[in-house]
Amino acid sequence: MFSLIPVSVAIVCILIVWIFKNVARGIKRRKEEPRAQAEARPCVRDNLKDSTGLHQVEEDADAWQESEISVEHVPFSHTRYPEKEMIKRSKEFYELLNKRRSVRFISNEQVPMEVIRNVIRTAGTAPSGAHTEPWTFVVVKDPDMKHRIREIIEEEEEINYSKRMGRQWVTDLKKLRTNWIKEYLDTAPVLILIFKQVYGFAANNQKKVHYYNEISVSIACGILLAALQNAGLVTVTTTPLNCGPRLRMFLSRPTNEKLLMLLPVGYPSKQATVPDLKRKPLDQIMVTV
Ligand SMILES: Cc1cc2nc3c(=O)[nH]c(=O)nc-3n(C[C@H](O)[C@H](O)[C@H](O)COP(=O)(O)O)c2cc1C
Repeated sequence: MFSLIPVSVAIVCILIVWIFKNVARGIKRRKEEPRAQAEARPCVRDNLKDSTGLHQVEEDADAWQESEISVEHVPFSHTRYPEKEMIKRSKEFYELLNKRRSVRFISNEQVPMEVIRNVIRTAGTAPSGAHTEPWTFVVVKDPDMKHRIREIIEEEEEINYSKRMGRQWVTDLKKLRTNWIKEYLDTAPVLILIFKQVYGFAANNQKKVHYYNEISVSIACGILLAALQNAGLVTVTTTPLNCGPRLRMFLSRPTNEKLLMLLPVGYPSKQATVPDLKRKPLDQIMVTV
């Protein structure tokens, strides 16, 4: 009888420990679940991740501005063309843009600043997530500043080509004859650096979510490329790898801005050449269902 008491006590102790452990495990799992779900289903805030000092923004949820006040709705003004005119216009626009090429040999001849202002105005007509217009176009004309930008980019690009990009990427670029030397950064009369604002500020200085900021700014860049082509200027789309933070700081841009693209803009130099690339025909890019 007495010998059974220590055994019962031991069993009760084991039971208590087992119950305690399971309750604790349950609480831990419940705590972790929202985090695991958030990781599996990226939310809007993931779009704000930026290695140039924005981590605070994600944690600082209370400081975010609530959605907009109302906006008046007005009649939409539309120009309707006869079908023949539509076909003509769409064909002419295609023919104009089909002549666009990435030109890496740019003359040092100056371009009218009025044209630059107009093409950037045009880029600013792009649609944007919740009409946040999350773009900044930095225009650099000063020769010393352009040269410093070239130095920063060439320094990083040399490392990109030799270490970061890998053999496959470097091989894929061989046909384009590109390397880390970027003379056009000195010769082009204008550099346009396009920054995406990963978040913005409301009138009361509270932070504002910039939904789909990268897609919005990329659309604006596409419109900018078309506007440059329409104006008779050339450029090459560049996305200098690993240069964003240094260029952002050099241009004194705030931490909510991240470099998306750099466009050297000007006239083609007299000896400019381009790789003889072919574009996919319509039946390879369009599927009608
Ligand atoms: C997102 C993107 C990034 C690019 N980055 C570079 C770049 O860093 N340097 C470069 O010389 N060209 C760059 N290009 C240009 C492409 O090489 C070029 O568009 C492609 O070879 C097709 O030639 P095309 O523009 O003459 O039609 C880039 C193009 C895109 C769309």
